[in-house]
Amino acid sequence: MAGMRVTLRQLQTFEAVARLHSFSRAAEEIHVTQPAVSKQIRLLNEEIGLPLLEQIGKKVFLTEAGERLRATCADWLDTWSRFEQTIADLKGLKQGRLRIATVTTAKYFLPRVLGPFYAEYPGIDIAMEVVNRDRLLERLSRNEDDLYVMGVPPEGRDIESEVLMGNDLVVVAAASHPLARRKGIPLRDLAQHSFLVRELGSGTRMTVERFFRERQLSIQIQMELGSNEAIKQALAGGLGLAVLSRSTIHPEGDRELAVLDVEDFPIHRAWYLVRPKGKQLSVVAETFLAFLRDHVQMLTPRA
Ligand code: PGA
Repeated sequence: MAGMRVTLRQLQTFEAVARLHSFSRAAEEIHVTQPAVSKQIRLLNEEIGLPLLEQIGKKVFLTEAGERLRATCADWLDTWSRFEQTIADLKGLKQGRLRIATVTTAKYFLPRVLGPFYAEYPGIDIAMEVVNRDRLLERLSRNEDDLYVMGVPPEGRDIESEVLMGNDLVVVAAASHPLARRKGIPLRDLAQHSFLVRELGSGTRMTVERFFRERQLSIQIQMELGSNEAIKQALAGGLGLAVLSRSTIHPEGDRELAVLDVEDFPIHRAWYLVRPKGKQLSVVAETFLAFLRDHVQMLTPRA
């Protein structure tokens, strides 16, 4: 290994190509030309002495050596960006890049703090990925982000988590649905109705299935839809019932929908802030965390 001469620039270029699976998108992200990206990758390949990438059609895949380098890169770049931020902090500036990944359901509230946060820390550049729970766990295991926001943290994994705020799941239907006027609906009655559910891999779906399974009940699935928004629209159009996070329903904006009064509901859960165990947070990530803890009240929609 001694003697490999690899530059930070090559590693940053490689990391972007590996993450985006594309030379042209990497070039765009790091603001250089595509030939400049190819050159950095060629030099890196020569230095390492094994191919790192494979191109199939337009898409770029990693070889085994590439996968190893990617894991190593994530650690190095992390350390480097923490160093840069510490230096900026010593100079009295809060600046740098913050990567947050949230599950799709959190997009209904988390972005609300971005405006006030940006107003206070304009030097902090935020990238927020919005994906379902399964994709988020993949990102977490690859250490791709500074912080993760999710409703169902993984069990038995090396993570640290803290509760951010409540995240109740409620049964929702069109405001015109006959059940919308009933009080104290027994859980068993729901079995006679059909449900719209989120895709497999969604934390909401996982919780709903577990909830009914634990009560030896099953629900009829009428349709699987890939987003909370699609489910809300389908409900408003008169299709079935759904169990959704209360965060997705705006008390004023969603007048076509009603939260049903069902026995054992809401399912009380929480939103968690998650990070890999032992991950040393950057100054910027610490700043954002402290801001979030102080501004939780901003995250709840007001009628
Ligand atoms: P989802 O996650 O958006 O993947 O359903 C929500 C949750 O984990 O509670």
